[in-house]
Amino acid sequence: MQYVTKSNVLTALTGAAIFGFSYYIKSQNPNKSKKSTDAKDSKSIAAAAVESASADRFSKAAATWDLADRHQLLAMKGLELLRTRLPFKLDRSSTEVLEFGCGSGAVSVGIASDVKRVVALDAAAGMIDTVKSKIATQRLTNVSTVLKMIDSAADIPGGANQFDVIFTSMAFHHVPNSRACIKTFYDALKCGGGGGGGGALVIVDLEKTAQTESYHPIEAHGDVFFHGFRLDDIRAMLIEAGFTVQSIKSEFTINKANFDHPIFVAIAIKPPSASASASAAAKK
Ligand SMILES: C[S@@+](CC[C@H](N)C(=O)[O-])C[C@H]1O[C@@H](n2cnc3c(N)ncnc32)[C@H](O)[C@@H]1O
Repeated sequence: MQYVTKSNVLTALTGAAIFGFSYYIKSQNPNKSKKSTDAKDSKSIAAAAVESASADRFSKAAATWDLADRHQLLAMKGLELLRTRLPFKLDRSSTEVLEFGCGSGAVSVGIASDVKRVVALDAAAGMIDTVKSKIATQRLTNVSTVLKMIDSAADIPGGANQFDVIFTSMAFHHVPNSRACIKTFYDALKCGGGGGGGGALVIVDLEKTAQTESYHPIEAHGDVFFHGFRLDDIRAMLIEAGFTVQSIKSEFTINKANFDHPIFVAIAIKPPSASASASAAAKK
């Protein structure tokens, strides 16, 4: 027999709130139609609350983030991708990198010695504190941090045409408006990035499968906007923003909840002749 206690009432209310937010977000799910990813309106109260819950959850997880095998695997794959798969070589004297949703900074800090400058951006204060302590311990002078929630309404601090590379791993599914976010990445990349070869965007994330929702069980992850992406949707959004798609496919798996979840890698290039203002104008 179950008794009604203060704690299980609270648990039920929290679950209902998370379910409610999640239902709201699903009803807005940009994966479902082109029109829904076009929302330019200011952020809804529900979406803002979900994002704030996400930042709290990641802040709490920051201290032990690097201990999980799957996080170590993702960091190792990320570093390998940046070192071997771009159409240009990283250059210590010129390459400028933004990591969006950097988490504990394993990739941002790990790639620092290969490049001129890294900007590690994340919405969770706990994650940014962890990156800062790595920067201090390793006495890195070319890694800076930005504590910021990027979404459809916000731009990356610093404006257009700044980075040769934008890298993001397992953060894109937390962004409510995928299409606007890809356009923001496009604008922030240099036209002649990569030593004139075009700036590169690298997205690592979950491919959508029948099991993808088990990666983020709703009881603990009501703040997740997308349970994986269809690769055709990602490709279409990249092309629409102006990118040339170098490759997009699932390249490895992460085991969670007894399922090997496919992780895709998308590498897209902003052509050397591209202009950031074309995309910025399309956003209006
Ligand atoms: C699943 S973690 C991935 C962290 C790291 N990239 C990794 O692979 O270990 C997602 C990260 O993205 C951040 N994040 C989620 N939504 C964001 C947003 N809209 N703007 C900036 N950071 C965001 C979270 O705070 C979290 O640290």
